[in-house]
Amino acid sequence: MELSAAIGKRASVREYKKDPVEKALLEGLVDAARRAPSARAVEPWEFIIVTDKKLLQAISSIAPNGVFIKDAACCIVVASEDVKYYLEDGCAATENLLLAAADCGLGACWIAGDKKPYDKEVLAMLGAPEALRLVSIISLGWPAKSPHRRRSALSMMSCTGKGSEWMPQATSHIYYRKNQSTRIYACAAVSAAALTMFLARN
Ligand SMILES: Cc1cc2nc3c(=O)[nH]c(=O)nc-3n(C[C@H](O)[C@H](O)[C@H](O)COP(=O)(O)O)c2cc1C
Repeated sequence: MELSAAIGKRASVREYKKDPVEKALLEGLVDAARRAPSARAVEPWEFIIVTDKKLLQAISSIAPNGVFIKDAACCIVVASEDVKYYLEDGCAATENLLLAAADCGLGACWIAGDKKPYDKEVLAMLGAPEALRLVSIISLGWPAKSPHRRRSALSMMSCTGKGSEWMPQATSHIYYRKNQSTRIYACAAVSAAALTMFLARN
């Protein structure tokens, strides 16, 4: 699959079929994750593949935002040495892993790990060294149903910079950002029209 197709196909999947995921596929996901960029090329990450049902149940019982982990075929825990950019590095690896999962047709969901009350406990459960930081937990399995894919339109994220106060001098570039002002102006226009009609009637 082309990268753009995998990016377009990726969405969080939280409901899975009971079928297991082959070890070779899981290794492929870790291979994709370890190819992520890392600051100063330190590659600080560790990947822990969890397939044991009791462990999946135990993780889901202490991570309230990942209760569905218990029904996943497995999860991959992304941990990192406590280096300066551990979070950025770990997140880059996590996204690579998610895209590789989408490429294989697997369902996956990123579950928060960093700074969560359960971060240390999850790592301890897995027998990981105490010095590691938990970055994310990725639940995995064959999707039970198609996920929703919702995104704001690209046109809402872009502006050519003309008339934007924050724009630097170079106007030959197109900058992408969340163009909140468009929405605010649209709301203001509708409100002004409603007020005009109200005043005209009264
Ligand atoms: C840093 C991060 C933490 C997340 N943590 C959770 C989580 O703990 N539980 C969960 O169900 N989804 C979690 N998600 C998934 C988001 O809810 C999801 O990406 C978002 O709703 C957009 O939907 P999509 O992934 O289908 O595009 C997390 C995503 C990110 C990037």
